[in-house]
Amino acid sequence: MNVPIVDLKAQHSALKAELDEAMHSVINSSSFILGKAVSEFEAAFAKAHNVKHCVAVGSGTDALHLPLWASRISPGDEVITVPYTFIATAEVISLLGAKPVFVDIEPQTYTMNVDAIEKAITPKTKALMPVHLYGQAAQMEAIMEIARSHHFIVIEDAAQAHLAQYNGKFVGEYGTAAGFSFYPVKNLGAFGEAGAIITNDDNLALRMRQMRDHGQVSKYNHEMIGHNYRMDGIQGAVLGVKLKYLQRWTERRRQIATMYNQLLWGVGDIVLPFESPKSYHVYHLYVIRTKRRDELQNFLKEQGISTALHYSRGLHEQKAYFHLGYKRGNFPQTEAAADECISLPLYAEMTDEQVEYVAEKVKEFFK
Ligand SMILES: Cc1ncc(COP(=O)(O)O)c(C=O)c1O
Repeated sequence: MNVPIVDLKAQHSALKAELDEAMHSVINSSSFILGKAVSEFEAAFAKAHNVKHCVAVGSGTDALHLPLWASRISPGDEVITVPYTFIATAEVISLLGAKPVFVDIEPQTYTMNVDAIEKAITPKTKALMPVHLYGQAAQMEAIMEIARSHHFIVIEDAAQAHLAQYNGKFVGEYGTAAGFSFYPVKNLGAFGEAGAIITNDDNLALRMRQMRDHGQVSKYNHEMIGHNYRMDGIQGAVLGVKLKYLQRWTERRRQIATMYNQLLWGVGDIVLPFESPKSYHVYHLYVIRTKRRDELQNFLKEQGISTALHYSRGLHEQKAYFHLGYKRGNFPQTEAAADECISLPLYAEMTDEQVEYVAEKVKEFFK
């Protein structure tokens, strides 16, 4: 049996008629950039996360860059984030001339270690950027308490966490703003690049809307410098169709995670994903740990099972960030996770038989 890490064809063939109709309506209207399909998606995505505003943009990277820029993060500022994430989280800070300051993750949830934040604060700190990694929210109540006491803004990296919750509130309901990615393999994926920011801050939402379109407040009337962060109409149409299924897909993801947990409990030295009792984890990725990670990956590949490593190196050990002056040993939990974590296949269309096959082969490896 072949089990890919994700199967977009399966999702799209089930929705083909609806997706075709939505895309054709964009083509017929020639609203290729922003337009009705995008604004309808924005309203639906904000509502799904119980917030006032959604600003649709061109990618998840845009969705982190724009709220930081619109919040006036500038050269010389410091933004505290984690090194165990996709590089875009830190890049957007660097692109504004600010400095990413890393704090380690918690070993169980792989999200920002709240106890490490205070030590990283300096007079230059302006913002915190927690990452809701793998679909599980960071400890947002504790993070917001620190932010409030220091007057920091908080931009949540929710690229992997559509509909995730912490203590009954959605990601994005806590921070100043949250950025999402709709990269095709995400829990909600576009037919190309796309992203969105959600926020309850009226002023920030307006500013981001203007900066998304070159700072225009009306046609060729530019009140500030912005950039082109606009979402394509086709992406808005595709996302609008798919959003209607997201809750159902998320429940199926959670069901698959539960199946894996039951089948893999006690196998070898495997550490299963930990779901905090306060968390509604949306399992963008199902990530296990083992000291024999590379051997397991090779074995599964021979059995037709694709896996991936998210992420095999902390950002402090990426050449792009050598200039920050960190070294191996600075973030022990990140380094251990990078050495031991492996993502097993998980997508809503996966059959029970496929889940059982993967679990069976993992067990066979450890026999
Ligand atoms: C944690 C995290 N942050 C940011 C991004 C950037 O999103 P995009 O690839 O849509 O620009 C991604 C997606 O790859 C991500 O996983």
